[in-house]
Amino acid sequence: MRYNFDEIISRKNTNAFKYDAREMIFGKAEVLPMWVADMDFKTPDFIVDALRVRLNHEILGYSMRPENFYHSLINWMKKRHSWNIEKDWISFSPGVVSACTMSVQAFTNISDSVIVQPPVYFPFFSIIKGSNRNLLYNQLILSEDRYVMDFNDLETKAKGGAKMIIISNPHNPVGRVWTVEELNRLADIALKYDMIILSDEIHSDLVFKPNKHIPLAKLSPEIAERVITAVSPSKTFNIAGLSTSALIISNPQLMKKYNKMLETMHLNMGNIFGNIAFAEAYEKGEEWLLQLLNYLEHNINYVTDYLQNNIPQIKLIKPESTYLLWLDCRNLNMTDDELITFFVERAGLGLNSGLMFGPGGTGFMRMNIALAFPVIKEAMKKLAFAIDTI
Ligand SMILES: Cc1ncc(COP(=O)(O)O)c(C=O)c1O
Repeated sequence: MRYNFDEIISRKNTNAFKYDAREMIFGKAEVLPMWVADMDFKTPDFIVDALRVRLNHEILGYSMRPENFYHSLINWMKKRHSWNIEKDWISFSPGVVSACTMSVQAFTNISDSVIVQPPVYFPFFSIIKGSNRNLLYNQLILSEDRYVMDFNDLETKAKGGAKMIIISNPHNPVGRVWTVEELNRLADIALKYDMIILSDEIHSDLVFKPNKHIPLAKLSPEIAERVITAVSPSKTFNIAGLSTSALIISNPQLMKKYNKMLETMHLNMGNIFGNIAFAEAYEKGEEWLLQLLNYLEHNINYVTDYLQNNIPQIKLIKPESTYLLWLDCRNLNMTDDELITFFVERAGLGLNSGLMFGPGGTGFMRMNIALAFPVIKEAMKKLAFAIDTI
């Protein structure tokens, strides 16, 4: 079947955060939203159909996770990521961010240091600080237009007693798919200094060839002992509103601690529709995903060429993964406030300011290109027009 990602569907007045929060976020209801990380494409038909079938039963009481929740994930990991996982290694969280919070609270103590690698997905900062842990930045280095990890700094922080690191694998917003060599170096440091690693792999299915996602825990049994992997079909299949994700933890002691936290929070039940969508996505989603990846790559190639040819002042950091583009706007010589105002007021585009992503984010903007191609073309025209007015 051919899916039509060109279809433009209005999301206005559906309580879509991306659309209906524009006034609150940008001070204007009419900006073209290219910010929060969900897609403007229809959730795949096989997921929506399964939800409709369940709805026909008309009793929506407490629900258990079905067997295919586990089996679909096990099969998907094997097929898409060559990773053999077991049912006992799988736990639940409503969201990947709440999984991070529960993990920080389950595996570290008050005042312990937890490392993150900015510029990075900003909720990591608040969950660490909000849990009264000490937030440490191991800032990525931009080297020849590609971000790399600063292993010397990481080792210093690990040696200084940090108990945990949260990595974004692949990385939002800089789009890196970490290589085996990079992950091995990180793993060696974690093993040497006894750190737990939370590997947030929510974007792991949105990887562009020839890059290949490596689940961190797959590297070796020794590293798997100290890794918590967070995954979800939410980004890939546009079902983030269903609040359902999974954790993969092969170490039984860590699993026990995590599950205790999950039960204490009373978050272990999950929701009836999230469970169904999760299993359908991983059971039936491969063909849809392959078409989605082609479409996203086409959008990315268009933006890349357009910027090079028409707006060379803005440089795109080549994404290896995700539909989130990291735009280097430093040559525009604007402050972060001026950049935000420029994009909103002059271009009519609502992007995320790089500043939100912590150290290293100044002068950058994050642009979500999971939109119908005609809308992307329109957005680039608006941006070029605005640049001409500077
Ligand atoms: C790296 C990363 N982790 C987690 C999330 C959100 O996960 P959830 O909605 O499951 O909490 C996002 C959303 O953009 C993300 O980019």
